[in-house]
Amino acid sequence: MVVSNLKIGLFGFGCVGRGLYHVLNNNTGFKASIESIVVKDPSKSRNLAQELISYDRRNILDRDDITVVVELIDDADEAFEIVSEAMRKGKHVVTANKKMLAEHLSELIELQQSYNVSLLYEAAACGSIPIIRTLEEYFDNEDLKRVSGIFNGTTNYVLSRVNGNYSYSNALQQAQELGFAESDPTNDVEGFDPKFKAVILTLHAFGKIVRPEDILNLGITTLQEEDSRYAAEKGYKIKLMPVIERVGHNRFTVFIAPRFVDTGNQLYNVDHEYNGVIVEGLFSGEQFLQGRGAGSLPTGSAVLSDISALSCGYRYVFKKYLQCKDLEYTDDVLVEIYLRYNIDTDISHFQWNKVEEKYQSSRYGYTIGSINLSQLIHHRQYILEHKIFVCMISDNLSQNTNQINI
Ligand code: HSE
Repeated sequence: MVVSNLKIGLFGFGCVGRGLYHVLNNNTGFKASIESIVVKDPSKSRNLAQELISYDRRNILDRDDITVVVELIDDADEAFEIVSEAMRKGKHVVTANKKMLAEHLSELIELQQSYNVSLLYEAAACGSIPIIRTLEEYFDNEDLKRVSGIFNGTTNYVLSRVNGNYSYSNALQQAQELGFAESDPTNDVEGFDPKFKAVILTLHAFGKIVRPEDILNLGITTLQEEDSRYAAEKGYKIKLMPVIERVGHNRFTVFIAPRFVDTGNQLYNVDHEYNGVIVEGLFSGEQFLQGRGAGSLPTGSAVLSDISALSCGYRYVFKKYLQCKDLEYTDDVLVEIYLRYNIDTDISHFQWNKVEEKYQSSRYGYTIGSINLSQLIHHRQYILEHKIFVCMISDNLSQNTNQINI
């Protein structure tokens, strides 16, 4: 079924909303009309016809002729209220709100099924890279081993600039000015944003929903000059890398942590706001997708692609989720890391499975070895408070629990 001339109600006119407005109005192919735009702040000036703007969500939700709601606001709780009410009213929804999605996936899947509407969210993960449809449609039949990569444009931009000798705070400010960062950039730099994206991709890659609070997210806020110097000396770049990986026969793990990558790694040359996703299938092997992961027009174009897909009656079937495979989330895996601490930090409560290398000077020290992921989850707060930098040094994950104190 092809529906022409969809009537859209748009919530939010920030960076992505403006991007969507631009691509929709400058696109020569697919057409749809934005009937109403609901925004929050009447004091902001917007380059829009006054009659399009309103401050009351009822002006979209109560209009029967608006059949598609595009939700592009910041607040995840408010977004969930809007999206769930719209679906209950029989409207199709396109959203880019990864936090809202990651926190409510099961309810949203139920709403889609109960109300026979479609909910699409390609723009919620990795900007313009069509990773959700790739997982949902192309890899629906194949067991995947691993999905990993760079899922956050802001941190990649900051890390690229820091590698090029900008200060961390200058680089972050630029990322905010360019519209890459979330309104609260803590979500980017502490790894919450890529964690929400990883939750969404886990659903489409493995058919499982993991609660965000069960997943480790370590970001780049504790990065110090010593870490950048260590990386440069070894010829590495530092990237913030989410990992979603099958472990053994019927378990999988998910975590977000910085990773040293060398020139042989496909992610090595994925810099600035670009994202890269590596999908490894059991039979197909490795695929690599790269594209702009943040920014007004790339993300707006991903939203437009969903609207266009809606016009052809497309919806996610959540095939792997409905297959209910015997697959369980675990944090009981060994990861190989570099852990840098400042000299006044007591690191004796980290229990290592294996230590490969230790270094200590009068100012700082580091240990390289393997440690159980559950320990990093347990000590996350301590890591942040004591400005410890944890960085993955390899892709190797294994199951083993013999631990040693150092
Ligand atoms: N803040 C996000 C990022 C925006 O930097 O990747 C795109 O999701």
